[in-house]
Amino acid sequence: MTEAHTPARLLILVASPRRDGNSATLAAAVERGARAGGIDAAVRFIDDHLDGLVRDCRQCRDDNGRCRIDDGFGELFVDQFLPADGIALCTPVYWYGMSGQAKVFFDRMFCYFAKSHAGSAQVRERIKRKRVALLTSSEEIYPAIALGIVHQLQEYARYTHSQFIGAVHGWGNGRGEVARDPQGSVAAAERLGRQFFERPYLDLQMDSPR
Ligand SMILES: Cc1cc2nc3c(=O)[nH]c(=O)nc-3n(C[C@H](O)[C@H](O)[C@H](O)COP(=O)(O)O)c2cc1C
Repeated sequence: MTEAHTPARLLILVASPRRDGNSATLAAAVERGARAGGIDAAVRFIDDHLDGLVRDCRQCRDDNGRCRIDDGFGELFVDQFLPADGIALCTPVYWYGMSGQAKVFFDRMFCYFAKSHAGSAQVRERIKRKRVALLTSSEEIYPAIALGIVHQLQEYARYTHSQFIGAVHGWGNGRGEVARDPQGSVAAAERLGRQFFERPYLDLQMDSPR
């Protein structure tokens, strides 16, 4: 977390190709809430920064160990993801998982994590201890529809010593239809944004101080 006088930084990632879709609607709600709560929030579409799948890093890296895929992922990851105190991932449910955009975003981090990357120690340090949250939308509405994605983000959070502070699921299929979700997911997204850095979080281990 940042010092008390510096607004915390929240990066909101949209992992749908639709600019006016349900993930974008949920992202805008998180941003609205966050700004109302004094948080320095920014929305980015992964599609604007990522064109390629992860490759065989060992073959692909340049002589300095840097990723050779020149599509703007490095800028998004190094200049926006790593400095953020919190990350909100907004993804449609695609085939009961996250979208390809979201998955490839995580896959591409590997290049920066791997020991053969010159700055990997710093990357590993800076990726830790963020607050992370998940916003999903889908046509289907049964309670387990997004659990695969929830589980994946939980494992990511465990691995990176991050805190998975909340998940919102929205019902919608047509563009922006989530705004009419009777479950009130847009309002829930806005609340999540507002409370992003204050929402209570507790994940005990047997030796946690209590
Ligand atoms: C490739 C693809 C796969 C999808 N798979 C599912 C699915 O497994 N279950 C479901 O309920 N909806 C599925 N949908 C519908 C989307 O989850 C739904 O329309 C979502 O609200 C789209 O979000 P967006 O507007 O942010 O793109 C799929 C849509 C696409 C394009």
